[in-house]
Amino acid sequence: MTNHGTQHIDFGGLTVEFDDRVLRPRPWTIAQSYWAADLLRAAPAGPVLELCAGVGHIGLLAVAGTPRPLVLVDLDATACDFARANTEAARPEGPVQIRRGRVDTVLGDEERFVGIIADPPWVPSAVTRQFPDDPLTAIDGGPDGMHVAWACLEVAAGHLLDQGWLLIQLGTVEQADAVQERLATAPEMGLKVVELREYGTNGVLVHVARPG
Ligand SMILES: C[S@@+](CC[C@H](N)C(=O)[O-])C[C@H]1O[C@@H](n2cnc3c(N)ncnc32)[C@H](O)[C@@H]1O
Repeated sequence: MTNHGTQHIDFGGLTVEFDDRVLRPRPWTIAQSYWAADLLRAAPAGPVLELCAGVGHIGLLAVAGTPRPLVLVDLDATACDFARANTEAARPEGPVQIRRGRVDTVLGDEERFVGIIADPPWVPSAVTRQFPDDPLTAIDGGPDGMHVAWACLEVAAGHLLDQGWLLIQLGTVEQADAVQERLATAPEMGLKVVELREYGTNGVLVHVARPG
């Protein structure tokens, strides 16, 4: 049997396990956990959803020390196995569910969340070969890099509570601008971009809100 060499990193005090079949957790993404945790401090009671969770570290750190229920979603079976192991190691106060599947297939119609964290693949297909160490399903976002990001926005439109928020990771300011433009022309989605933070060449985080 192939040994994929399990590795561990510290992520804000959580010990996170992964191997080379999944995307290596990137230290800068701790900013997404901390920003989500800040938003959760001001949010009413209710569950949190993480889309494209990978091995689960961003969402697990966001809810650490709180009893918030958390649902982690990823398409990849290996990522879900590690998310399960990382959940056990994190010993969260609230319940954590891990759902394997596409973001647009794993939620019940009635499910609602106070906050959604999303980290979709955002690399345009034509340039994924520049990242040979990363699994294709973790980085390939389709022709313009936005294929899964749009699906995450649709999930937010359908499953956020009033005054809820989506904190989504994208690759570039141009991709964030595309989100702003689409939401401005789709009032039926009931979402608007309220803040963008840039992290150099690593990526951007976009705070999308559902006004109450
Ligand atoms: C950029 S990686 C992020 C993983 C993790 N959040 C991290 O920081 O390491 C994107 C993740 O999305 C998952 N994914 C890709 N397409 C998906 C889809 N349509 N539905 C659910 N998950 C998907 C991949 O398996 C991968 O784990």
